[in-house]
Amino acid sequence: MSNDVILLDHPLIQHKLTLLRDGKTSVKEFRELVEEIAGLMCYEATRDLPTETITIETPICTCESPVIEGKKLALVSILRAGEAMLFGALGLIPVAKVGHIGTYRDPETKSPVEYYCKLPNDIEKRSVIVVDPMLATGGTAVDAVNKLKKRGVSDIKFLCIIAAPEGVAFMQQEHPDVSIYACAIDSHLNEHAYIVPGLGDAGDRIFGTK
Ligand code: URA
Repeated sequence: MSNDVILLDHPLIQHKLTLLRDGKTSVKEFRELVEEIAGLMCYEATRDLPTETITIETPICTCESPVIEGKKLALVSILRAGEAMLFGALGLIPVAKVGHIGTYRDPETKSPVEYYCKLPNDIEKRSVIVVDPMLATGGTAVDAVNKLKKRGVSDIKFLCIIAAPEGVAFMQQEHPDVSIYACAIDSHLNEHAYIVPGLGDAGDRIFGTK
């Protein structure tokens, strides 16, 4: 059974997403917006973390209060556009360990080709949040989840700012256990595998490389 996509329709997220889509938004603003959105997304994606109650002393009295318990977290950034989301997510979860997976899309086949993979040694013991702003064909995302599962990771969430229906379908087909968090599901992919209406090339817009 496939997990549904968790659509993050909070007005703050949707407002920032509109600014991201706007081709006139500067590189600096774009990068800041991606970080801010990723922080807000992380807030939602960690909503189900289990807590336990501990006893503390406030300046007034003893009180029982919740803290996060259970498995530790890791963030995995899909290079290179994942980097801006990573730093937004780290703002919320500063103790998370971080992994990187680098793949590029072969322009002919549109399939992912790996050029870098560095993950925390104990990643299989962690709940993993994968970040990549664009879930387009889903090839890169599915490939990243394949790698994580090969390393023994069983608890994976995938955070993207914009998803294409094609990418959602592919991820749900290959990894129905992975929850997808997205701020929007757009119309379709164009002939260059860009999301329509989308926001263009996320990596270029984050790093100003075009
Ligand atoms: N990657 C991007 O950066 N943009 C798209 O529209 C699709 C994939």
